[in-house]
Amino acid sequence: MRGRMNDGKSYMPCFELGKPLDGGAVGEVIESRAEGITPGDAVTSNLGWREYFVGMPKALHPVSRAIQPLSVYLGALGMTGMTAWAGLHLVEIRTGKTIFFSGAAGAVGSVAGQLAKLRGCRVIGSAGSMEKVAFLREECGFEKRSQNVK
Ligand SMILES: NC(=O)c1ccc[n+]([C@@H]2O[C@H](COP(=O)([O-])OP(=O)(O)OC[C@H]3O[C@@H](n4cnc5c(N)ncnc54)[C@H](OP(=O)(O)O)[C@@H]3O)[C@@H](O)[C@H]2O)c1
Repeated sequence: MRGRMNDGKSYMPCFELGKPLDGGAVGEVIESRAEGITPGDAVTSNLGWREYFVGMPKALHPVSRAIQPLSVYLGALGMTGMTAWAGLHLVEIRTGKTIFFSGAAGAVGSVAGQLAKLRGCRVIGSAGSMEKVAFLREECGFEKRSQNVK
């Protein structure tokens, strides 16, 4: 999301002034005429960050309320979590190895770091503030040593 605030060459268009922010969202169906989708269902969508919208069923993806909070479907169980998981499959990860993540406190980096930790790696990373460093150390299990914080 941060990257799309800058106009530049990218695989995704940048945000436009005056338009709703778009990106993944999770919400509740309040009315439905579609088979298989009923009021009360929790769904993810990509139709803009807004309180209400009308969408076609194929644009909605039902998710289970058994996993809470539902925002996890926008992170670890969503597109950024999938990116972290897929990224780790592109490199050779072995127990006991050290792995470094830039942008470590971001949506992708923080999950990738935790997945690497679960695979027995020593995980280090860089982030842009002490608050982010504390999050990485205390909540994500990154190694407790940092230098050159911006
Ligand atoms: N291909 C895919 O499907 C896919 C999916 C998701 C993400 N991605 C890519 O993976 C990367 C990380 O995504 P994310 O969702 O984790 O991002 P994010 O949560 O928005 O984190 C981005 C972080 O990058 C750091 N950064 C360094 N230089 C920057 C700059 N010039 N402008 C903005 N941020 C800068 C900032 O952290 P610090 O201040 O801590 O350095 C920023 O918070 C992005 O490049 C994104 O495009 C790809």
